[in-house]
Amino acid sequence: MARSTRRIVLAAPARGLPTAETFRLESADLPDTLAPGQVLTRTIYCSADPGTRARLSDGPSYAPPLRAGDTIDGFCVGEVIESANEKFAPGEVVALGGGWAEHVLFPGRGYIQKIPHRRVPLSYWIGVLGVPGMTAWFGLKRVAAIKPGDRVLVTSAAGPVGATAGQIAKASGATRVVGVASGADKAAWLREAGFDDVVDYKAVSDLGAALRAASPDGHDILFDNVGNAMIDAVLPLMRMGGRVVVSGQTADYNTPYDQAPALHNTRYFIASRLRMEGLVVFDDLRAFPAAQEELCGMIEAGAVKVREHKYQGLKVAPGAFIDLFQGSAFGRRIIQVGEEPR
Ligand SMILES: NC(=O)c1ccc[n+]([C@@H]2O[C@H](COP(=O)([O-])OP(=O)(O)OC[C@H]3O[C@@H](n4cnc5c(N)ncnc54)[C@H](OP(=O)(O)O)[C@@H]3O)[C@@H](O)[C@H]2O)c1
Repeated sequence: MARSTRRIVLAAPARGLPTAETFRLESADLPDTLAPGQVLTRTIYCSADPGTRARLSDGPSYAPPLRAGDTIDGFCVGEVIESANEKFAPGEVVALGGGWAEHVLFPGRGYIQKIPHRRVPLSYWIGVLGVPGMTAWFGLKRVAAIKPGDRVLVTSAAGPVGATAGQIAKASGATRVVGVASGADKAAWLREAGFDDVVDYKAVSDLGAALRAASPDGHDILFDNVGNAMIDAVLPLMRMGGRVVVSGQTADYNTPYDQAPALHNTRYFIASRLRMEGLVVFDDLRAFPAAQEELCGMIEAGAVKVREHKYQGLKVAPGAFIDLFQGSAFGRRIIQVGEEPR
């Protein structure tokens, strides 16, 4: 009898905010034997990532759009249960690009990494030590070239990218780290995590004035996770030689590409000699292990705090994903799909 798995696929391309109808849970066959290079994993955890939204409808993105019937993107922690790849053996636990599925058939090429130890929870390898944490790390260290004394502003600061970025900024000697996030719970947690101030963009009538008050000397680095309207509001507040890191565009992902807000304040690039640069974190893949080791040490030392929001069972993944754009939960959205190995 053919063996099968369950997975969540794109039912129909999304328009605006995805709904339950955007997704479908279905069974799919697994091959009887693996082709050379392939690895079959049993999913323990998978993630809900805002960047996946860009792939749920047509439009320019760094990754091609998913088609109806494709498994929804996500990162997974999985246990190898079968391998036709000499680098991986059954029983090993890996982090890999996979998606919302009970099993992942790794094709032999792409993102996969053995989890080297159990010093921190396994789920961290698709969170603070995975793509979100690495985005924070390389966005600040390589793209922004952070240095002691910098004043840093981080948007969507309570998310896994933003919270990690703010804490790395502090550990790198930033003089002032301000986060932008909505709601009192997020603000309280960010202060606990060492942010100097938090601006609730939903609660203020004049965002520019609130950001100025939070860091009266301005910002050397804007680490932006949300999109054009935020960047435009911050450009006039950037200090001479400031750097804008374009990490993500969560506020713009549900808007058709040609209707996203425009940047008007580009004159500040001249007056304040600003630089703006985006990143795709996989460009830094070879440097992940060293960064992960350093960041893991910071977590163990209590210098970086981690927040996760865990969901149980594959079928709740769409709800976890939609919640990224409208919910009050925060931290890395992790969906537990299977048991951890003993
Ligand atoms: N460049 C790369 O290689 C790379 C890699 C990974 C992730 N990213 C990007 O990094 C960003 C952050 O990712 P994450 O995983 O840490 O997710 P996240 O920040 O936790 O995303 C969810 C949060 O976004 C905020 N948000 C939702 N809608 C918003 C809106 N309309 N305006 C402003 N904020 C809104 C909400 O927090 P508030 O309460 O603060 O509104 C929400 O809790 C994403 O844009 C993602 O695509 C980039």
